[in-house]
Amino acid sequence: MTDRNIAVETIGLGKSYGRVLALTSVDLKIESGQYFVLLGPSGGGKTTLLRLVGGFIRPSSGRILLHGIDMSEVPPNHRRTSMVFQSYALFPHMTVERNVGYGLRLRKLAKTEVSARVDRMLTLVGLEGLNARMPHELSGGQQQRVQLARALVLESDILLLDEPLASLDANLRKDMCFELKRIQEEVGITFIHVTHNQEEAMTIADRIALISDGALVEEGTPREIYERPKTRFTADFIGENNIFEGIVASIVDGRAIVDLGFVRVAVPCGEVAAAHGEAVLFSVRSELLELGDHAEAAEARDVSVDPVQAIPATYLKEVYLGLTTSHMVRLPDQRDVVVRGVSTSGQAHFAADQAISVRWRTDDAHLLKG
Ligand SMILES: Nc1ncnc2c1ncn2[C@@H]1O[C@H](COP(=O)(O)OP(=O)(O)OP(=O)(O)O)[C@@H](O)[C@H]1O
Ligand SMILES: [Mg+2]
Repeated sequence: MTDRNIAVETIGLGKSYGRVLALTSVDLKIESGQYFVLLGPSGGGKTTLLRLVGGFIRPSSGRILLHGIDMSEVPPNHRRTSMVFQSYALFPHMTVERNVGYGLRLRKLAKTEVSARVDRMLTLVGLEGLNARMPHELSGGQQQRVQLARALVLESDILLLDEPLASLDANLRKDMCFELKRIQEEVGITFIHVTHNQEEAMTIADRIALISDGALVEEGTPREIYERPKTRFTADFIGENNIFEGIVASIVDGRAIVDLGFVRVAVPCGEVAAAHGEAVLFSVRSELLELGDHAEAAEARDVSVDPVQAIPATYLKEVYLGLTTSHMVRLPDQRDVVVRGVSTSGQAHFAADQAISVRWRTDDAHLLKG
């Protein structure tokens, strides 16, 4: 059975370099026409996965299907993929025109055809009329666009981009992110973009796969990954999450009553099967926590039905970050928690060492897998 709407499917894909196990049994499906991002820390296996899809290296185990056809043993020039390498600079002695048209000339296309397609690509990437420039006469961002045009002009079905924005400064990177997204929407092909920058991934991706330690950790839309990370790794890696550890005291109506040692709180179980007596982790985003009056945490209440959970804490300090302010607080078990709020002008509400409470909407917490 094949599914042509799936641009890339990997089945149990693995790769070892000698004794280094770079990738272990990755099962991944990437839909056609999506902007797909592979995100994760350095050394996790992102480039390895991208190179396997492009055919630059061969799998040690498993298979790769492109548009439903097994391509595991097919060389790069016979796959409908193009790759933009981070380290591959432009040919320095060739004009922009010749750089972009290089692949087409290799294919022995007529001069007029090459020239027309190069012009179209330069317009697409916003470099119209710069045909005669040499690479050293371009800014870093413009060089990046030339590289992109050089890959896009080949009209592949799948474009592979390995850290395409890594050499750009933060401002330019943001602009290029939007540009890349616009270009992808215009050409409508599948983009697979590798980065270790979570903001870049969130800005650009239709879907994100987190890759760490040679494994696919989880996969989803930016919103799913950000708001409902399934694993501790993702909760740590994406945004600012507070992770709590406790023991399940009971399960009441789909909520785990979690004993933190100093207080009990209720956490929706969601998809995680929690059992009585089990050690569990749950996370709450720092911007979904609020600071409150100490009395609130001390109140006797039935947490299992409460729409808001509150726990006692001690205020430490605030860190002003411009738009937002981070409030550092300490729990009775000496763990620190970050509460992020919109900055307000004027006097701070809390003093160091003040007894307070930290609260959140019950539904804003969720259990993590392992
Ligand atoms: N040619 C090679 N020979 C031996 N080991 C390699 C080779 N290429 C990569 N590795 C190892 O495989 C693992 C995965 O590397 P990979 O380049 O895929 O990671 P990455 O996620 O792209 O990292 P980065 O973000 O730093 O580029 C690393 O441990 C790396 O050292
Ligand atoms: Mg890499």
